[in-house]
Amino acid sequence: MAVDLLLGLQWGDEGKGKIVDVLTSKYNIIARFQGGPNAGHTLVFNGMTHVLHTIPSGIFHDDAINLVGNGVVIDPVIFKRELDKLDEQKVDYTSKLIISRKAHLILPTHRLLDAASETAKGKAKIGSTLKGIGPTYMDKTGRNGIRVGDVELKGWKNRYRNLANKHEAMIDFHNVDIQYDLDELEIEFFEAVELLKSLQFVDSEEYIFQAMKNNKSILAEGAQGSLLDIDFGTYPFVTSSNTTAAGACTGLGIAPNKIGDVFGIFKAYTTRVGSGPFPTELFDKDGETMGRVGHEFGATTGRARRCGWLDLVALRYACQINGVTQLMMMKADVLSGFKTIKVCTAYNYKGESISHLPFNIEKQNVSPIYTEMKGWAEDLTSMDQASQLPQELNAYIDFLEKELDIPITIVSVGPDRKQTIFRS
Ligand code: GDP
Ligand code: IMO
Ligand code: MG
Repeated sequence: MAVDLLLGLQWGDEGKGKIVDVLTSKYNIIARFQGGPNAGHTLVFNGMTHVLHTIPSGIFHDDAINLVGNGVVIDPVIFKRELDKLDEQKVDYTSKLIISRKAHLILPTHRLLDAASETAKGKAKIGSTLKGIGPTYMDKTGRNGIRVGDVELKGWKNRYRNLANKHEAMIDFHNVDIQYDLDELEIEFFEAVELLKSLQFVDSEEYIFQAMKNNKSILAEGAQGSLLDIDFGTYPFVTSSNTTAAGACTGLGIAPNKIGDVFGIFKAYTTRVGSGPFPTELFDKDGETMGRVGHEFGATTGRARRCGWLDLVALRYACQINGVTQLMMMKADVLSGFKTIKVCTAYNYKGESISHLPFNIEKQNVSPIYTEMKGWAEDLTSMDQASQLPQELNAYIDFLEKELDIPITIVSVGPDRKQTIFRS
């Protein structure tokens, strides 16, 4: 059976966690394929809010297996905290959470290096979540990394020590004031590694291969968003992994011809957290309203998210790169009450109107060209049928479907699992 993919089409936080949770009942396996604890995926059901960072968003369902793939980077300390929360909620994960031996570990010194590198960059900083993501992927591609499977081997602590020593020298090189007590961080780290070792490690590419052969249904869960992709995002203001569909192939070991549906998730407007260009960003009352009504604060760092209108130039680009087959529009409820909704359909690029994403979308090169549509006043949050949606919202949806030539099959009208409208 082919593997379906679910990924974010903007700068992250589109609502991936919510939709994975909604769709999990249709799948046997939910598999995260990249990123790490820089992600914060929020699930709301039965009056409770849960935020997952590394653990796949199918974990609250009894029957699904949740796999952390080889493309993911795992911080054992944060992973332990996530497991502790699941324990508090009496979620038994022991038989349904499995981890790829080839996933790389985030060490305490990776986190420190992230902080040193960002501090040294000053005003040019990326706005990283400081979870050690960049340094860990650098060690992966530099062929120095320590993988989950290594902790089952004798002598891995020597490799750890050598790498941590090298990191300390690199931190010194940055010549910035970073205070830390490595002994203390290491006690916490090695304790967390022991807990990790009590979980089931697998050769995940073989596990997935056998599952496909046995007709198991698999949903691959992405983290971050397409515009944060290391190759196709707004470089250098990106994360350090391939967040796009290709990342699911390398992050799980799935051949490209085994990909089925590609579900692309986007907000009815746009947000971004951290630095980097954002052509449709608003600095006025409308942007403030989106942030307030949408509670736009990062699920991992608590930072306020920047807000702006929907950018169809960027969305079209993301759909092309990912081969999106179905779109899912999130947070439509947040736009209720806006008299006019704006959509950016093209950019004015150095005096010329263009509809593709150019190399550089910095403010000095690009300004958005908007189409205006009539807004709606109705509160959507208690609606559960497509037939209840206001006419102006349907016009907005029709417009986007025509522009992107992809059906919008889900409209989300609130954070709760139940606030999800399916469109045929
Ligand atoms: P993810 O990283 O893509 O999983 O998204 P986050 O969890 O970081 O951010 C999405 C935020 O929007 C969370 O607080 C969700 O609870 C919330 N959310 C998801 N869908 C909706 C929706 O349709 N309406 C509203 N108002 N909130 C939503
Ligand atoms: P989810 O999965 C939104 C952003 C950071 C920063 C840049 C690099 O919840 O959608 P990193 O920590 O990777 O070095 O940060 O990427 N970023 C995210 N923004 N949602 C995320 O994940 C993000 N993960 C990283 O804010 O700008
Ligand atoms: Mg998030």
